Amino acid sequence: MITLGIETSCDETGIALYSDKAGLVAHRLHSQAATHARYGGVVPELASRDHIRRVLPLVEDCLAEAGLRPADIDGVAYTRGPGLAGALLVGAAVAESLGWALERPVLGVHHMEAHLLAPMLEADPPGFPFVALLVSGGHTLLVEVTGLGRYRILGESLDDAAGEAFDKTAKLLGLPYPGGPQLEALAGGGEAGSLRFPRPMTDRPGFDFSFSGLKTAVLNAVRDADPPIPRETVARAFQDAVVETFAIKVRRALQATGAGHLVVAGGVGANQALRGRLRSVAAAEGAAVAFPRLAFCTDNGAMIAYAGHCRLAAGERSGDGADVRPRWPL
Ligand code: KG4
Ligand code: ZN
Repeated sequence: MITLGIETSCDETGIALYSDKAGLVAHRLHSQAATHARYGGVVPELASRDHIRRVLPLVEDCLAEAGLRPADIDGVAYTRGPGLAGALLVGAAVAESLGWALERPVLGVHHMEAHLLAPMLEADPPGFPFVALLVSGGHTLLVEVTGLGRYRILGESLDDAAGEAFDKTAKLLGLPYPGGPQLEALAGGGEAGSLRFPRPMTDRPGFDFSFSGLKTAVLNAVRDADPPIPRETVARAFQDAVVETFAIKVRRALQATGAGHLVVAGGVGANQALRGRLRSVAAAEGAAVAFPRLAFCTDNGAMIAYAGHCRLAAGERSGDGADVRPRWPL
């Protein structure tokens, strides 16, 4: 069984082919980062238009890479949400059209579920139950996963998502969009411990997060300091605060659930400082840790193909018509 995956929820067009026998057989990604960079954020209309231009050529590239024909596709999965409505509709319309033309089943999948399952594409996939930390530009979730579709939300951000906090702080420091990776690079040159920001909500029980106060603390530190604090030091202190906050809550979640595996997924999961710290937290709790490869931390078609494959194989199908859910809780 070959599943085509189509991701168009935001500013990356991701296409992939997943085979139940051979695993991932092709994947292609087009990032629109350069298109949106001069606006300092994603412009939804430009995103939709670019997806329209990219989707079909990338599907053709994937088929060529895998040595397959369109008729070899057994099912089509697309991102149904959450995401930008216009961008989602491009993927949904193409998926429905291909499904109709090829007479194959189509399924709209949840973008965050796909992020959550991305480590399953790696060599040593985690077993259920696991604790997942989902950290992207739009979401910050700590989830207990006991099976496919069996998700218990332990905690989430009450305001900004972790990636959003990285992006906004990066902007404050004068870094270009998308700020997360840029901030990480800058933090690498910063001195540890010379500036300290709060670890929000770690002094009370529970698993929820809040990052908007941290962003304000950064703003105040940058504005009021005389002499000015080096940008690297601010970046380092911000990153340390985020990483330590996640370390504390993840440790709590592993202890509360007794899960033997930790999964870290979503764009912020590409951050090496976070990865390193969570590796030691998991080791101390006797848990194995699974990260998707860096390219599958951020948005991609492979995770959509895989999540779609799992649900299509279980017999799930979408109703008729291109259906999207820009806001869709996990
Ligand atoms: O999962 P993703 O690609 O898209 C969403 O579904 O949101 O996540 C994008 C987010 C952005 O906020 C980006 O700045 C952040 O992930 N990000 C990072 C890093 N790489 C991407 N944040 C911190 N460190 C990184 N290395
Ligand atoms: Zn994402």
